[in-house]
Amino acid sequence: MSRSESIHMKILADLFKILIILATIGRSSWAAMSGSYCKEMGSRTYRPHSVTVTEFGAVGDGVTLNTKAFQNALFYLHSFADKGGAQLFVPAGKWLTGSFSLISHLTLSLDKDAVIIGSTDSSNWPVIDPLPSYGRGRELPGPRHQSLIHGSNLTDVIITGGNGTIDGQGSIWWDWFNNHTLNYTRPHLIELMYSTGVVISNLTFINSPFWAIHPVYCSQVLIQNVTILAPPDSPNTDGIDPDSSNNVCIEDCYINTGDDVIVIKSGWDEYGISFAHPSTNISIRRIVGEAHSGAGIAFGSEMSGGISNVQAEDISLFNSLYGIRIKTSPGRGGYVQYIHISNVVMTNIKTAIGITGLYGEHPDENYDPNALPTVDMITIEGIEGTNIKHAGLLEGIEGANFSNICLSNVHLNVTSKSPWKCSYVQGFSNLVDPESCEPLRDPYQVSTCYAANHIDHCNLVQIV
Ligand SMILES: *[C@@H]1O[C@H](CO)[C@@H](O)[C@H](O)[C@H]1NC(C)=O
Ligand SMILES: *[C@@H]1O[C@H](CO)[C@@H](O)[C@H](O)[C@H]1NC(C)=O
Ligand SMILES: *[C@@H]1O[C@H](CO)[C@@H](O)[C@H](O)[C@H]1NC(C)=O
Ligand SMILES: *[C@@H]1O[C@H](CO)[C@@H](O)[C@H](O)[C@H]1NC(C)=O
Ligand SMILES: *[C@@H]1O[C@H](CO)[C@@H](O)[C@H](O)[C@H]1NC(C)=O
Ligand SMILES: *[C@@H]1O[C@H](CO)[C@@H](O)[C@H](O)[C@H]1NC(C)=O
Ligand SMILES: *[C@@H]1O[C@H](CO)[C@@H](O)[C@H](O)[C@H]1NC(C)=O
Ligand SMILES: *[C@@H]1O[C@H](CO)[C@@H](O)[C@H](O)[C@H]1NC(C)=O
Ligand SMILES: *[C@@H]1O[C@H](CO)[C@@H](O)[C@H](O)[C@H]1NC(C)=O
Repeated sequence: MSRSESIHMKILADLFKILIILATIGRSSWAAMSGSYCKEMGSRTYRPHSVTVTEFGAVGDGVTLNTKAFQNALFYLHSFADKGGAQLFVPAGKWLTGSFSLISHLTLSLDKDAVIIGSTDSSNWPVIDPLPSYGRGRELPGPRHQSLIHGSNLTDVIITGGNGTIDGQGSIWWDWFNNHTLNYTRPHLIELMYSTGVVISNLTFINSPFWAIHPVYCSQVLIQNVTILAPPDSPNTDGIDPDSSNNVCIEDCYINTGDDVIVIKSGWDEYGISFAHPSTNISIRRIVGEAHSGAGIAFGSEMSGGISNVQAEDISLFNSLYGIRIKTSPGRGGYVQYIHISNVVMTNIKTAIGITGLYGEHPDENYDPNALPTVDMITIEGIEGTNIKHAGLLEGIEGANFSNICLSNVHLNVTSKSPWKCSYVQGFSNLVDPESCEPLRDPYQVSTCYAANHIDHCNLVQIV
């Protein structure tokens, strides 16, 4: 290509970007006009019938096991499902319980001084089938423990409170994990499967045995104003893991855990490929997080059903191993594409942007090593970082370059002498300091950068 041809290409590329931005402005004003459903959710849903868990024999002394009381209350409330639904209220007190399952058209509401406490006896956490998109428990082959608060095939479920607490007493599970005495994969605090119209708001979650909040095969999910806490050294205590789910809004949360703050997934290798349930249409905004041995905003490593159309904005991250992270591996198949991350402030982060195609970890020996994942159309813009060691470690897959990785307005105060390391990636960068690696700034590279379509899923998540 001659010099004048390449300049011509560059002008065309710039023109294309401007067109995208213009299209974006048009659409975002339309989205804004549609109003925010997020804000109205909690207050809008009135349940004509309400019971208190003490009416079913629960004792809030922190010692009595209340599993039966929760189960009986929920069984009783079944009959109100077609009459506008019902509320189960948990008053002030310490409510020890094993796992229980929710019903449709339900509000589970905690008093501000209510604490639901998970039993430390693993036999109070029944064992259920592995997820079809994982083919086995995530930690151990075979089935897995059911989450403390569980739900399957539900519609219209609200879990809320005036900042009441759900405490998983996870430390015994972390010990069992660390000393290799688990019999099955550890449970979550909340897992909802195949459910639509889910609100989780105004609550604090502490010491989850494993990932805290796990919506899987769900749609129309709003997670708002929750606090999630676990110690820095607690293993795999991710905050929120939307998995094979669509139309998800996560906003106004403070999450400080041992592993990823928010991580989007969609199934594992051959099981995820054949189950083929993507995660798509996800908005994440106004999150403050610390992910001591994980990442602030992460994708994968299980992504075999595909992940697309994710926006994250207005994020503050502290004291983490990674800021933004994409993890995948040969064998995963699937894709991570149309991702837009903007306005992130990072402080004391080892690697600001970590993208790897060599994560490893397979469910069994039957994965297809030729099933290469696609990582494409990833835009990261408006990043400010202080006390960062590495700006970016970006390793794609030989024969399946990660493409259209675009960085714009990235300013990192970096301590490492070689701030960027890149292999098998291609893309574009603009106003990046320290200057990005060569594959992301080839003047002859005509990259198409993904300009978020700014369809705000927080405005579109519509419950009921
Ligand atoms: C959370 O609490 C605030 C303040 O009490 C309330 O206005 C809001 O509706 C609640 N949100 C939900 C989703 O219940
Ligand atoms: C829940 O929904 C899934 C997907 O539609 C279905 O395969 C499964 O059988 C349902 N489970 C129950 C208990 O109804
Ligand atoms: C968040 O929850 C707290 C405590 O329940 C409440 O005071 C506050 O208004 C809530 N904020 C939002 C945005 O819902
Ligand atoms: C909720 O409670 C947690 C734990 O006590 C606290 O850290 C957090 O600030 C509270 N959140 C709100 C919004 O009041
Ligand atoms: C493993 O941890 C559990 C929970 O703390 C403890 O009861 C058990 O004795 C430990 N087992 C071994 C082999 O260290
Ligand atoms: C594992 O199974 C054994 C045998 O049933 C049981 O004694 C032990 O408590 C179980 N361990 C855990 C962590 O559930
Ligand atoms: C994702 O959002 C777009 C735009 O609102 C919509 O057209 C599409 O149907 C959504 N996808 C799913 C799976 O809901
Ligand atoms: C960047 O780091 C250097 C050395 O630690 C420090 O002196 C400087 O103030 C930092 N700049 C910013 C903007 O944080
Ligand atoms: C893959 O990316 C590298 C730069 O990281 C580049 O040199 C190589 O030509 C690319 N391969 C293909 C097939 O585009």
